[in-house]
Amino acid sequence: MLAAPLLVKKREGEELSDQEIRFLIEGFCSGEVTDYQMSALAMAICLKGMTPRETVTLTRAMLESGDRLPRDVSDRHQRPRVDKHSTGGLGDKVSLILAPMLALFDVDVPMISGRGLGLSGGTLDKLEAIPGYRTDLSVDESSAVLEKLGTFIVGASQRVAPADRRLYALRDVTGTVESIPLITASILSKKLSASLDALVMDVKVGQAAFMKSEDQALALAESLIRVGSQAGLPTTAIISDMDQPLGQAVGNAIEVNEAMDVLRGEGPREVRDLTVELAANLLLQVQRMATRDDAITKLSSTLDNGSAYERFEAMVRAQGGSLTGRLPLAAEHPIAAPESGYLQGFDCGAIGRTVVSLGGGRRQVGDQINHSVGVRVHARIGDKVEQGEPILTAYFDGDDPGEYLKELSAAVSIVGESIPRRALILKRLDQSHLRATSST
Ligand code: URA
Repeated sequence: MLAAPLLVKKREGEELSDQEIRFLIEGFCSGEVTDYQMSALAMAICLKGMTPRETVTLTRAMLESGDRLPRDVSDRHQRPRVDKHSTGGLGDKVSLILAPMLALFDVDVPMISGRGLGLSGGTLDKLEAIPGYRTDLSVDESSAVLEKLGTFIVGASQRVAPADRRLYALRDVTGTVESIPLITASILSKKLSASLDALVMDVKVGQAAFMKSEDQALALAESLIRVGSQAGLPTTAIISDMDQPLGQAVGNAIEVNEAMDVLRGEGPREVRDLTVELAANLLLQVQRMATRDDAITKLSSTLDNGSAYERFEAMVRAQGGSLTGRLPLAAEHPIAAPESGYLQGFDCGAIGRTVVSLGGGRRQVGDQINHSVGVRVHARIGDKVEQGEPILTAYFDGDDPGEYLKELSAAVSIVGESIPRRALILKRLDQSHLRATSST
């Protein structure tokens, strides 16, 4: 088989057969299909879409390019394996809370997380704010932590879906990241490698998310549910608002501190609500709970009685970290509301860019992270604010705060008339909500 005729076929909007898709991915991994041919394929998929069948085959071929997390053959504990994945947004520290909390319900949560991408922080970068925390456990080490504690949070090894790793790098530089079939195959090939029994997707929508409109978010959620389920991974999804940061904390150490507050029954309500909602969804999927209300009550009590925090501490210790209290932050710079009124909205891009500029994120792969910098957001959309009271606090060291503070104060808009508060969870979706589709 030759690659070029297949690229023409896809460019013309024709479907590729399973064999043709496998040939392209296997050839890409062996070097027979070049980077420029793969980039042309990514562009053709971006423009012409793929049918669900093509996306399932692409996902499986990418999964099969690498290793899978072993499942104990004897499966002594018979614990179902579950995970959550978010499409990324500002202040999203849900994984840090959800994994140890769920592990208390006799399920395994082998969480393979990522680093910051663009303006979205990465769970691994946040956890590395804890002195000594290792995100690079070997397969044996991570299996031992999973058996003992029911959870770990680590980075993907080079052997997890290597076809995705290479294709993602090409997509990043060829303007082909934003394609629903390519995003679907990328996320699910990695999730399938953990041999899960259930996955819940948190698809974010809003100006601080990949998906800017609810229609786009819905199309992505449906694709993930359909393809996940057909590829052998039962998947459900929640669509959640990302027009404002999740919770108050944006950064690395500051987000770990906020996650620890929520794990101890404190912290911002919306972080707790979203985490409990996603965790309840998984317990229902694997039949650990019979009703959503029951799941929500029991999950919430692990936050209020300290058991979720204890499991988090144990996981951190098992992964080499040492937690001796709150993590230190850089110097505090409060930003006051310039007038009284109602909070209309945030320029999330500006907040994210400021955190990256302060060193809290990367401009280039390999940049060092400054874990102590960040931003605290003191109000949410619809809140009443008084002139002079702090609306944001920036955390950074250095002599010349002017430029950062100017950018941050311009990132908040206040108006005179009252503004409705935003719902955080916009939709809950499972297989029963899927619409008929030909291709995405
Ligand atoms: N996250 C991924 O892992 N892959 C994508 O393509 C987009 C977001």
